[in-house]
Amino acid sequence: MYRIAVIPGDGIGTEVVPEGVRCLLAAADAFGFSLDLVEFDFASAAYWEKHGTMLPSDWQPTLEPFDAIFFGAVGWPSVVPDHVSLWGSLLQFRRVFDQYVNLRPCRLLPGVRSPLADRSPGEIDFVVVRENTEGEYSSIGGRIFEGTDRETVLQETVMTRHGVDRVLRFAFEYASRRDARHLTSATKSNGISITMPYWDERVAAMAADYPSVETDKYHIDALAANFVLHPERFDVVVASNLFGDILSDLGPACTGTLGIAPSANINPERRFPSLFEPVHGSAPDIAGQGIANPIGQIWCGAMMLEHLGEEAAAAAVLGAIESALSEERDALTPDLGGTGTTRSLGAAIAGRLAD
Ligand code: NAD
Ligand code: IPM
Ligand code: MN
Repeated sequence: MYRIAVIPGDGIGTEVVPEGVRCLLAAADAFGFSLDLVEFDFASAAYWEKHGTMLPSDWQPTLEPFDAIFFGAVGWPSVVPDHVSLWGSLLQFRRVFDQYVNLRPCRLLPGVRSPLADRSPGEIDFVVVRENTEGEYSSIGGRIFEGTDRETVLQETVMTRHGVDRVLRFAFEYASRRDARHLTSATKSNGISITMPYWDERVAAMAADYPSVETDKYHIDALAANFVLHPERFDVVVASNLFGDILSDLGPACTGTLGIAPSANINPERRFPSLFEPVHGSAPDIAGQGIANPIGQIWCGAMMLEHLGEEAAAAAVLGAIESALSEERDALTPDLGGTGTTRSLGAAIAGRLAD
């Protein structure tokens, strides 16, 4: 029995999470384990409207006993500004639960058309390991001379040896277990002349401990171009918080749609629950229409099952996604070129798990 906190959040989060749950329950049934799912309404604009905060004051002891958190998306800028809603919820979870690795796979799946002509599954299959608790996402800074023509705004980038080394170690370990054993570091040490050379230095030091992993580095601008021009070059890509954020939207765009991309916010030491959420947000432009692609959320379910030690069930969920994509063309959502709905695609994938 696994205890899972379910937080749908805002917008399409509330549409894709039920499909993720449907597939998790189908996998549990098929593989003989049980899930105790407890849903929470906080970390949403609706909760904010009612309570004036994004989270109840006891959110930490409430969530901490769970084995994992299955999360949709948060952010509804017409009701609450994004920096308030995000720093009041998701970014708190990541920091307080020390989920310092954000693992974001990008894979071209069968039946999905890459915008990069002539690519086929196998050619795009890499993972972004994003530093998730420090870097450019710091709260250090402020405004001075406000309201004058000398108004100045500063926000510091924070890189600690502890913070950089632990995410690099995770990335090198992860790369050493993959077939290609290749690691690319995202840098910008030509322009950002203090923190980024430090990042490079720590990558070089860590690489010495992993002689079996081939290592290279690209400046972030060139790396972005190479994601599009030569995605087959990449296996594990390790990046600071902001660079990882950007690359992990670009990667899935190269594989056809942001709607399929999963992410795992992991506390590798398992002192705290890890959190599994799609890469995408609440998508206000399509929310309420029932057409959001649920695959990102369902793939998150697979990552969560793997984290819980249910490897066979995780592989089955991924297999069900792949076979539904190739064989259930009518069920596919519009971002995949189909005319189906969130529910039809969720049902097609869950149905394959029950077979
Ligand atoms: P977004 O990811 O919500 O949407 C970007 C584009 O991708 C939109 O055109 C959207 O329709 C499309 N898209 C996203 N998910 C899709 C899916 N499952 N199926 C089909 N199409 C999909 O990014 P945004 O518009 O910049 O942000 C909207 C809100 O979500 C903001 O409040 C933002 O801060 C928040 N956000 C939250 C998270 C999170 O909770 N982890 C992540 C990103 C953005
Ligand atoms: C993500 C999101 C968040 C981030 C935002 C919503 C704060 O874009 O999970 O990728 O930048 O980490
Ligand atoms: Mn992002």
